[in-house]
Order: sequence, then C-alpha cells, then structure tokens
Amino acid sequence: MKQVNVGICGLGTVGAGTFNVIQRNLDEIARRAGRSVKITHIGARRDNPACDTSQVKVSRDIFDVVKDPDVHIIVETIGGTTVAKDLVLTAIENGKDVVTANKALIAVHGNEIFAAAEAKGVVVAYEASVAGGIPIIKAIREGLVANQIESLAGIINGTGNFILSEMSEKGRAFEDVLKEAQELGYAEADPTFDVEGIDAAHKLAILAANAFGVSLQFDKVYTEGITKITREDVQFAEELGYNIKHLGIARRTDEGLEMRVHPTLIPNKRLLANVDGVLNAVLVIGDAVGPTMYHGAGAGAEATASAVIADIVDIARDIDSPGLVPHLGFSTVTKDLPVLAP
Ligand code: HSE
Repeated sequence: MKQVNVGICGLGTVGAGTFNVIQRNLDEIARRAGRSVKITHIGARRDNPACDTSQVKVSRDIFDVVKDPDVHIIVETIGGTTVAKDLVLTAIENGKDVVTANKALIAVHGNEIFAAAEAKGVVVAYEASVAGGIPIIKAIREGLVANQIESLAGIINGTGNFILSEMSEKGRAFEDVLKEAQELGYAEADPTFDVEGIDAAHKLAILAANAFGVSLQFDKVYTEGITKITREDVQFAEELGYNIKHLGIARRTDEGLEMRVHPTLIPNKRLLANVDGVLNAVLVIGDAVGPTMYHGAGAGAEATASAVIADIVDIARDIDSPGLVPHLGFSTVTKDLPVLAP
C-alpha cells in the first residue's frame, strides 16, 4: 500500500485546521482512503502555535514544498490570487495534485488553472472553496449528476450571515459584529470581500460552473453587499414577516444563465430565512429531484478542513489511476448556455 504524502502551504486558519484534523484522525482517514495519508512537508512563513509541527519538515519558503519530489498532494491555504496562483501553477507543472480552499483563486483564475491541470493530467480539487464544510460541490457534481439544474440559491458568506443574524436577533451594530467575525477567524483578510458581496460572488461563480456547465465567469455576477442594510431595515422586514438574507442566486432563464448576489427579503417561514449565524445553506433545484437543501458550517478552521481533507482522500484513493477523480475542466463545459451580463 503506497503512502500518500501531503504538503501544506500556508498555516493560517484553514491550513492549521487541516493539519490538526489530519493528525487527530490519522487512522480513520487511512482506513477510508485505503492507504496512509501523511503530512510530510509544511511551508509557512511563521509557526502557528495551534499546531505541533515538531515531527514534520517545515520550510519558510512555500515553493520548497511544491518542489519536494516526495510530496504527492499540495494543499494551498495561503489565500489571495497572486502568490497562490504561481504556487498552484508551479505545483501542476511539477506533476502534483492540488487541493485548495481558495475561492478567489478558482473564481478568477480557475479556467487557466484547470486547463493547465488537464494538460498535465493532474487534479485541482476545491470543495472547501464554497460553503466551508458543506460538501456542496460533490453534491452538485455527483449526487445530482442526473439532473438538469434549474436554479440554486444560497447563503454562502458566513460572515455576512453572522452580521445580519446578530443585527436581527440582538440588535447589535454592524461594525461590532464584523469585528467579532474577524476575531473568530471567519472573515476574509480583507473583510470588504465579505460585506461587499465579493466573496459570495466568487463562490457563486464556482457553484454555477459546476451546476450549469459554464466556464467560470466571475465578471458576470451582479454583486451587491450588505453595507447599506441598517438595523431599522432588519426590524421593518421582521414586522412584515420577512428576514433579510444575503443570497447568491444562479438561475437558468430563456435568455441564458443569470448570476446575482444581493440582500433578499425571504418570508420567515422559509428554511433559508432561518439559517442563522455563521452557517451557510444552499438550495439546489434539479428537474428530476426537485428542491434539495444543504446546510452547515460555512467557515471556520476545522469545518473548512473537513472539506479540504475530503478532497485529499478522494485524490489519495485514486492516486495510482490518474484521471478518475472528476474535476472541472474544459471538457465539462456546455457551450449552449449563454451567461447574461449583470
Ligand atoms: N469569509 C468567508 C465567510 C470564509 O465568511 O464565509 C469562508 O469562505
């Protein structure tokens, strides 16, 4: 039985969560992967006190990890779209499979990255990039594979949902809740991505590509955040029987695919209206199955690590048979569904 060696690049919130969950559940993961999965190399500019890395090789230069001939799978958890892009393309060039939680990277540079991966015969997996620990990409790509997806709508930014929930339930001020979300490690490095809807737009572009077979078209997502929502708006909505939720919506219309992210009034009896805190939920409607709903932790170290490790195990299972792990590549793109301008 071949051991699969994993290199983690970036030991921030998600990298550290991935490290700790793998170390803690080593035997269970090996049993499920059918082989041992071991973290053999970490690239991080500084140590993270949350992780005991004393038994693992640590490099301060993350590129040392992607050049390590003994590493099979690279986990990219540095975030951002500049160094992360170089890192992922270098890893692909070096024949490594890649797992990333980086929604901005996939949404903005995914078409180029998947083309490079396809040419090299390696996998780039990104389950953790959308809705944290909820296996939503797997559900769309595998569980709903028989369906023509009609629409999807979801709360896909935990920080924004936490802010709206706390404003509604406790009457707290926007800035105060955002600060708490940052302290808890939920918010993006630049929290304007959360509150201006950019993070949700990244995730919607990724979901739509998987659900509707279009290429990644982040620039076609109409994007509006929650910064204009006041406590009074939240209270008035409640008096009228609605909750305000920030939704990402992708919908097949007669003209083409519509993608939009904005605050929405939802009748308070609906499931989506009652998803509170940092939780995410995605409603996917397929022509055969009808409406299906996926709900759970949308951010946080170990919840996101859960999805990162699911991808690692998927790849590890088939590491001797490259090509078996399904991934979003150009061969899966449907040409006949135009994507509407925002
Ligand atoms: N900042 C993101 C959120 C993290 O709050 O949803 C998870 O993608």
